[in-house]
Amino acid sequence: MDYKQAFDKLSAVGQEHVLKYYEELSGDQQKELLDQIENTDFSVLASLKEKGEAGKRGEITPLAAMQLSQIREKEQEFRKVGLDAIQKGKVGAVLLAGGMGTRLGSDNPKGMYNIGITKEVYIFQRLIENLFDVVREAGEWVPLYVMTSDKSHEATTRFLKEHDYFGYNSEYITFFVQDMAPACDYEGKIYMEDKWKMATSPNGNGGWYSSMYKWGVARKALDDGVEWLNVFAVDNVLQRIADPCFVGAVIENDCAVGAKVVRKCTPDEKVGVMCLEDGRPSIVEYYDLTEELMNAKDENGDPAYNFGVILNYLFRISDLEQIREKALPLHVVEKKIPFLDESGNLQKPDKPNGYKFEQLVLDMIHELDSCLPFEVERNKEFAPIKNATGVDSVESARELCKENGIEL
Ligand code: UTP
Repeated sequence: MDYKQAFDKLSAVGQEHVLKYYEELSGDQQKELLDQIENTDFSVLASLKEKGEAGKRGEITPLAAMQLSQIREKEQEFRKVGLDAIQKGKVGAVLLAGGMGTRLGSDNPKGMYNIGITKEVYIFQRLIENLFDVVREAGEWVPLYVMTSDKSHEATTRFLKEHDYFGYNSEYITFFVQDMAPACDYEGKIYMEDKWKMATSPNGNGGWYSSMYKWGVARKALDDGVEWLNVFAVDNVLQRIADPCFVGAVIENDCAVGAKVVRKCTPDEKVGVMCLEDGRPSIVEYYDLTEELMNAKDENGDPAYNFGVILNYLFRISDLEQIREKALPLHVVEKKIPFLDESGNLQKPDKPNGYKFEQLVLDMIHELDSCLPFEVERNKEFAPIKNATGVDSVESARELCKENGIEL
């Protein structure tokens, strides 16, 4: 792409300021900027106009979860089916590690964070140790696919290599990189993070399968006989990965996807809850949960929307293939975005100053025909690290690790 083409592409979307410093850049920098402009999808900016209208939802009705008591009754049967699938290489795990972890406030990818007290215990290490439990039980390696972004790829791959993948067999670890989206100010003008670089951020965790496909990793998984993918977030350090009981339950129930859920602490707890929307599985975010839904009861008199998702899903790949081309809703999220000020100096804001554009994995659920919400014990499987202190923090996760006998 030459300067004229770049200028035309930008002016069609009102972003000519991106070329403000063009004349003073070196040849390499000019090329870098023109390449970035060529490869950027500016259509995401149009979603700013629809901001606030995204709340229109279909008819919400309850979707019963498989509860702990029901799971215990069939636990042996589920475990057998799950272990069999794992031993036959049909189950892979996908670690979503492309996020920026801005709330935690570390410059490194979140997985590199050390939560240890008396020794080093990195988040990545905790996750791999958890996966090892299943590998030992099954006597087989579980393929692990790690999604990074442009911002976390180099540091993540280097770190894991330096730590010898925490003992995991590196032949079973594959990396792929998610796409980026431009980040803009409140008026919709794209920020610059360098004179030759637009500010971008990872485009959300909802694009994981299309990125996995784009990188040829999904094809390879299918060729290797993988049929199920357990997708999980980097920040839950008590995460059970490729849990045989969960895998078995989803297979036995012949569902396109299973979602691990926890019982809500209070009706207004800020978690997305499982439901049906216009008869299809869906997740209603806490801010869309009306008073009426919050207090609704099921036929047993229990709260009807009582199970929150924890970003641990088991997807059947054949069903993912059918929805791969479908566009997911774009969420406009307020975030802190480093930017060049009027004088060309880099500023790192301490409060949100603009918007990023993200697709979310939870929106994939609504595209699928069937979903099994599968209850797990919160104190044993859910210790997310979102913040440095307070709720869902390093502190609260350390407490939960201690409760579960994990030495830190
Ligand atoms: P979060 O919603 O907590 O986002 O991600 P985040 O970017 O990591 O953190 P904040 O909001 O800036 O503090 C949930 C999971 O989805 C992954 C994260 O790495 C985490 O495992 N994720 C998020 C991606 O892989 N890509 C993204 O673009 C966003």
